[in-house]
Amino acid sequence: MAKCVLVLCSLAITFAVTIAFEPSPLQDFCVADPTSQARVNGLPCLDPNQVSAQHFSFSGIHITGNTSNSLGSRVTPVNVVQIPGLNTLGISLARLDYAPWGVVPPHTHPRATEVLTVLEGSLLVGFVTSNPNNQLISKVLQKGDVFVFPVGLVHFQKNVGYGSAVCISALSSQNPGVITIANAVFGSNPSIDVSVLSKAFQVDQSIISRLQAPF
Ligand SMILES: *[C@@H]1O[C@H](CO)[C@@H](O)[C@H](O)[C@H]1NC(C)=O
Repeated sequence: MAKCVLVLCSLAITFAVTIAFEPSPLQDFCVADPTSQARVNGLPCLDPNQVSAQHFSFSGIHITGNTSNSLGSRVTPVNVVQIPGLNTLGISLARLDYAPWGVVPPHTHPRATEVLTVLEGSLLVGFVTSNPNNQLISKVLQKGDVFVFPVGLVHFQKNVGYGSAVCISALSSQNPGVITIANAVFGSNPSIDVSVLSKAFQVDQSIISRLQAPF
């Protein structure tokens, strides 16, 4: 009896872990149908007889992203939005461009592990663990280096070379999602109450107001 309960418990845990990630496809493909009114977990499938090569392709990953912005970086995503054929397949790409000293600020992908490859330049990268608590795992990467950001963990990149830098990232979801920490905490709409953030960051409310201002 106890053993049986144990088996049920471990099954329940396994199932809970499994459904936190993209399920395996049950058909060749499920090209996303953006016009469907159906609400499902993911996107509904286009009629397979209407599917063509354009649903599986994207052009322009060679084009340099415009980094003329306050961060000095640009992300060019290639996920299910750009390639509807990625729907249900649990994989996507992004191109990252960095001006000298440009930053991709601390952010997380709630649904994807990221594998970043440096094609050009030198980058300081890092992520922060949840267990052990808040340990920074960080490294300077050079052209040809590959680095992993585990699913859900807060991570960042900074160009530390004198020229521009370019990366290609692979992500283990067709829809990785992105939560940029500063924007979520200081730029939410409506704003999180200043008194909450003041306690959380252990600073005066006036400092919180200044941090909220750019958003
Ligand atoms: C890059 O973005 C800036 C700011 O939005 C804009 O002024 C500029 O024209 C853009 N450059 C190109 C080449 O698109």
